[in-house]
Amino acid sequence: MNAPRRVQSVTSLSGALRVPGDKSTSHRALMISALASGTSTIEGLSPGEDVKSTSRIIEQLGAKRSDDLGVITIIGPDSGLRASDAELDCGNSGTTMRLLCGVVSGIEGTHRLIGDASLSKRPMDRVAAPLGLMGAVISGGGHRVNAPLEVTGTSSLRGIDYRVPTPSAQVKSAILLAGLHAAGDTTVREDIRTRTTTEDMLRSAGVDVSSVDQELGRVVSLTPQRPKAHNWRVPGDPSQAAFFCVLGAIHANAHIEVLDIDVAPERTGFISVLQRMGAQVDASSREGRGIVTVKSSQLTSTEINSREIPSVDEVPILAVAAAAARGVTVFRDMGELRIKESDRFKGSMMLASLVGCRVWSEGDDFFIDGLSSAEAFSYFSIDAGLDHRIVMSAAVAGLAGSGCSILGAKTVASSYPTFFEDVASLS
Ligand code: S3P
Repeated sequence: MNAPRRVQSVTSLSGALRVPGDKSTSHRALMISALASGTSTIEGLSPGEDVKSTSRIIEQLGAKRSDDLGVITIIGPDSGLRASDAELDCGNSGTTMRLLCGVVSGIEGTHRLIGDASLSKRPMDRVAAPLGLMGAVISGGGHRVNAPLEVTGTSSLRGIDYRVPTPSAQVKSAILLAGLHAAGDTTVREDIRTRTTTEDMLRSAGVDVSSVDQELGRVVSLTPQRPKAHNWRVPGDPSQAAFFCVLGAIHANAHIEVLDIDVAPERTGFISVLQRMGAQVDASSREGRGIVTVKSSQLTSTEINSREIPSVDEVPILAVAAAAARGVTVFRDMGELRIKESDRFKGSMMLASLVGCRVWSEGDDFFIDGLSSAEAFSYFSIDAGLDHRIVMSAAVAGLAGSGCSILGAKTVASSYPTFFEDVASLS
């Protein structure tokens, strides 16, 4: 059993930093490069364990990988990827497992996908259902189709027209990646616009993908085609920048700049939320690269709907912001939080409660009565389970408040292995 990590509060935070390469872009750069024929390069790949899982798996499927001073070269086999006899270990990474289901659905043979204890509890029926309609067979445990999974891929997938019932970029992406190998076009309809990473990157790789916005949603259609090799540059991960935005806003003496991040609208809803709460946070773009600056701020409560932050990745850290705000912050329609790396619905409420807030829930909504300042936070101990975002959210609360102790802090390596070192560089 690992010892808990102790986090001490710090008196001031200042400086600029880069966060790891965007996880979503990194997974897709590896998968699309492996599907292409020939040599692709990737600069700025996320160093996290989740992306390493994807990287190992594409090699198992036949891609070649080399690393030259941080620039990764991937060579996709001319004859295409092929099934591996070995299990494909997705570790803690839902994106790896769900997107990979799409990729291997079009590869003839049987593929066995496994994950850690957290991933094995997460529902895969959301990808098994549409990929089943396309002609693949995905079986797993129980009605939610939990890992370990067995995917029977086929070279004769059919294109589908599918409305994703719950907004999910992972589901959209799994279908589009399978659609690359299908007979006929594939259309995915989403009621709420989710991140466009897959569509954008497939287009960069020469695939014909159209995208039409409709009210709050979007219709994406793809014509099957093999992606072309490409030189990818991965921007910084906005979901990691979110931890520094909240840290800077709730800390009494902070001025932090996060450089070179992806500022796509589907990824930066948390910035609008923080601005609405009164945070002095500002996002700008220099030569196509996003920069976010944040200063110590007095926050007030707000109402946040999951529609504003479609993947809800930034909700645990916004719960920490709410805990430091004046008044009751309302988090609406947050059911998806329950099926992330841990039950983040419970985890977000628990964090706020541990620092001393009154918290309660009604159905899929929860409420945090803030303490008006992080300086009023109590010292706390938390078990982060296998959830990297709970580790970082707890650390931010401890750094700005009265310190904390985190069991399972090592899980931060899933997405941000140098998180604690980067924080230390600011103090
Ligand atoms: C991701 C999509 C989101 C997000 C996850 C990464 C992606 O999940 O939570 O961290 O790369 O497509 P959902 O698609 O389930 O919203």
